[in-house]
Amino acid sequence: MADNIVLIGFMAVGKGRTARELSRQTGRFAVDCDDLIESLVKMNIADIFATHGELYFRALEGRVARWLAECVSATIVSTGGGFAAVADLGRIGTIVHLHSEFDAIIAAIRGHPRARQKIKKRPLLQDLDQARRLYDRRRQLYRQVADLQIDVTGRPVSLVAAEIIERT
Ligand code: S3P
Repeated sequence: MADNIVLIGFMAVGKGRTARELSRQTGRFAVDCDDLIESLVKMNIADIFATHGELYFRALEGRVARWLAECVSATIVSTGGGFAAVADLGRIGTIVHLHSEFDAIIAAIRGHPRARQKIKKRPLLQDLDQARRLYDRRRQLYRQVADLQIDVTGRPVSLVAAEIIERT
C-alpha cells in the first residue's frame, strides 16, 4: 500500500487546510484531488459540472485515484467530498475522515470572509436541503471507508494535524 495520508470528509469541512498544515508539520508534499482534476482538464470544478456533468467528474476522480495508488507515496492527499466513493480507496493510503456536523460546516462557511466564492465554486452546495441529504448519505460512506475519524468542529487546524500525525 502506498504510504499516503488521505483526508476525506464533507464539502468545506477543512480537508485542504488540514492537508497544508500536515504538510507544514511533516515536510511531506500535499496534493489536492480537485486541483489535479482542474489542471488535467484545464477547467474549474463548477465548469466541469456545468459542461460535462457529474458523471464525467466522477470518472476523473477515479482516474486520479488510480494514479495516486500507483504513482504517489509519502504524500498528504486532500480530496473532494465525493472522492471517498472511488474504487479501492484504501490502496492509496491511510484514510482519515475529518468529521463535523452539517450545521457546523454551513455556519463556518457562512462566517468566512469569502463565503460567497466558497459556496459558488461548489455545485453540490447550491441547494442546502439537497446538500443536507447528501451529507446524511455520505456520512455512512465515510465511516465505512475510514481507518480513522477525527472530529474537527471548532478545533484549530494545528491541533487536528498533530492528532492525525500521532494516530497514523
Ligand atoms: C464534491 C466536493 C467538492 C468537489 C466537487 C464535488 C462532492 O470538493 O470535489 O464540487 O461531491 O462532495 P470539496 O469537498 O473540497 O468541497
